[in-house]
Amino acid sequence: MNWWRDAVIYQVYPRSFADSDGDGIGDLLGLVDKLDYLANTLGVDAIWLCPVYPSPQIDFGYDISDHTAIDPVFGTDADFAELITAAHARGLKLIIDFVPNHTSDQHPWFQESRAGKDNPKRDWYVWADPRPDGTPPSNWTSEQGGSTWEFDQATGQYYLHSFHRTQPDVNWRNPELRAAMLKVLRHWLDRGVDGFRIDVLHLIAKDPAFTDNPPRPLPAPNGTDLQHPDYDTQWHLHDRLHPDLDGYITEIRALLDEYTARTGQERIAIGEVEAMPWTAATRFLGAQLNGVHFTFNFDFLETRWHAKALRAAIGAQEAALPPDAWPNYVLSNHDRPRLPTRLGPEHTRVAALLLLTLRGTPTLYYGEELGLSDLPIPRERWQDPLGRDQVRGPMPWTSTEHTTWLPANAHYLANTVESQLADPHSTLTLYCRLLALRRANPALHRGDYQALAGLPEHCLAYLRGTPAHTLAVLLNLGPDPATITLPRPGNALLSTSGTAPDGTRSEFQVPAHAGLIVALTRR
Ligand code: NOJ
Repeated sequence: MNWWRDAVIYQVYPRSFADSDGDGIGDLLGLVDKLDYLANTLGVDAIWLCPVYPSPQIDFGYDISDHTAIDPVFGTDADFAELITAAHARGLKLIIDFVPNHTSDQHPWFQESRAGKDNPKRDWYVWADPRPDGTPPSNWTSEQGGSTWEFDQATGQYYLHSFHRTQPDVNWRNPELRAAMLKVLRHWLDRGVDGFRIDVLHLIAKDPAFTDNPPRPLPAPNGTDLQHPDYDTQWHLHDRLHPDLDGYITEIRALLDEYTARTGQERIAIGEVEAMPWTAATRFLGAQLNGVHFTFNFDFLETRWHAKALRAAIGAQEAALPPDAWPNYVLSNHDRPRLPTRLGPEHTRVAALLLLTLRGTPTLYYGEELGLSDLPIPRERWQDPLGRDQVRGPMPWTSTEHTTWLPANAHYLANTVESQLADPHSTLTLYCRLLALRRANPALHRGDYQALAGLPEHCLAYLRGTPAHTLAVLLNLGPDPATITLPRPGNALLSTSGTAPDGTRSEFQVPAHAGLIVALTRR
């Protein structure tokens, strides 16, 4: 039980991962072909697969038109069955995306809902009358820019869409809609999936009175970029996080627990929620830890890349989580700039060491293990309205096979899996070594986390330990070498910069932008 606490999760963006039929778009059988790479070469434990359901692909699969089928672009139902069998045969868990907040406007539910005010599915979505002056029911703004409300001429009402206007929000207050959504979960649980990544979970309950959001002065730059300038002009107080949310989450969890109890296969839920202080985010875990198993931790995507700031971010999560809850860490995903682009490639190796040695479940984004940067695409060629195709470039397996929906560039072709596996100093080789070391050392699974104090300015160091065994992790984020003194002597097991210092010692020279793992001698 609790496999998810020890697991390393690998996020697959299926469109860009591996293409088995040569149409330029990745697919399920392509992923099946790469399971040995994931399970054995790299050595991860679970896959999170982004949406593969039928979709007009306006939001690249997050606009679902059929929750229980596979989009032909990704393969067939039989391919999905093959994927799950082949993954399980290799000891890999499979987590899939569940998108509860909205559907595509092509979904039959919405087609019915918009057919008339008296349609039985009208209330499955969020419809409201215009204000007396004809304007939308509230001032809420969408991440895609503009109002979240779209007027429907035929029925004279507005429908709500927190994202693109082709992604109408469903109404979780309607018991039939809720039952239909839980039925979707049952479908995939019956197919054998190990869990769900739940899209924008914080959004599924809104103020039923549609109270206006208060204006927000545009924040001054603080080291984090504004993701959505228009959207960020208001405090999103009323279009999310309504107290009804908690009940919906426990309903989902109860269903997962029912399957876990009945089948002996533990099923989990990971919530994707917007950035918020940890004290607020613990709400999603449920008062009796009867909510999601964890919420994705996006701190490392947003915190300033400075030793003090990172240490504070780690400490904040550690301090806020209830005793039996479990931390997690993420460096990149399909919505955000890749780490080498955001911070500079010199930070890639230290970031890998950090991700894979902290207390908590790490999630890697495909291509992260290759140190890939974003794929630059001029604005006029963006396929995603927010330009996120730049972070969804094709996984470069070899330098020859690249007729893909987004053409790889020279950087991608110079950093293939094939070439990096042959290079003992590559980023991929470092990831493989770190993952092997993590697997071999229980101290890195459930061992305690203890930050070390009194370090040079750009350094971060911590102990991970069980009573039997303690490892120290030393990271130098700065541009100059630094010396770190440990509370007791140890032997370096791994260095991100190549050769680890010899012998048993307490004082370690850590090169610029490098890190070490040290096994401490027993007391
Ligand atoms: C979050 C997903 O990660 C993103 O890709 C998507 O556009 C929105 N939710 C809407 O589903």
